[in-house]
Amino acid sequence: MINKTKKIVEKHYVKIACGGSCGCAKKASAVLSKSIGYSQKEVEELADANLGLGCGNPTAMAAIREGETVLDLGSGAGFDCFIAARRVGKTGKVIGVDMTESMLKLARRNAKKLGYTNVLFKRGDIEDLPIKDDSADVVISNCVINLAPNKKKVFKEIFRVLKNTGQVYVSDIVWPGVRRVQLAFFILSKFGKI
Ligand SMILES: C[S@@+](CC[C@H](N)C(=O)[O-])C[C@H]1O[C@@H](n2cnc3c(N)ncnc32)[C@H](O)[C@@H]1O
Repeated sequence: MINKTKKIVEKHYVKIACGGSCGCAKKASAVLSKSIGYSQKEVEELADANLGLGCGNPTAMAAIREGETVLDLGSGAGFDCFIAARRVGKTGKVIGVDMTESMLKLARRNAKKLGYTNVLFKRGDIEDLPIKDDSADVVISNCVINLAPNKKKVFKEIFRVLKNTGQVYVSDIVWPGVRRVQLAFFILSKFGKI
C-alpha cells in the first residue's frame, strides 16, 4: 500500500517534470509565488525552476548563513535550492533530495543553465535520506512531507541528519482526520538537536 502510494506520487511528478509545469502557466506560478513572499527577482531569474508546486516559502523564514549546508527535502525543479544556494555562497552547499528521476534531471539542467556549482541533487526517499548523520545546518521542505506515507520516519530522518545546532523550516499542507480542513501552514518553529 505504501509503495503503491509512492508510485502514484512519482508518476504524477514524472508527468509534471516532463511537461515542465504544474498545468498552471508560468505566469500563474509567478503570481502564486509572489503572493507567498518570493521576490520579483527570485521569480524572474528562477522561472524555469519554479513549477508552482510549493505551498509556502520556507526560505523566507530560514536563517541560512554563508558556509552552511542546506538540505531540501523533495527539491522538485530546484527553486528553493537555488535561493538557498545564493545565501550559503561558494563556501556552503545545498543538497536537494527527490525520488523522481525526471524531476532530478530537470533540476540538474536548471543548475547548469543558471550556473550553480554549490547545489547537488540526489535521488532518494525522504523517509530514508541518502545523507550522513549530523551533516545539515538547515533542513527545508516545501509541500512534500504531506506526500510521504510515513511522516514519523521523515521527522526521524530530519533529526538524524541535522547537526546539534540545526534548524528546520517546513511549509506543508495538512488534512486532519476526515474533515477536509485545508490549512497551508508554515512550521515556524525551529528545533535544535540538543
Ligand atoms: C509538490 S512538489 C514540491 C517541489 C518543490 N519542493 C517545490 O516547492 O517546487 C513534490 C516533490 O517531492 C517529491 N517527492 C514526493 N514524495 C517524495 C518522497 N517520499 N521522497 C522524495 N521526494 C518525494 C516529488 O517527486 C516532487 O518533486
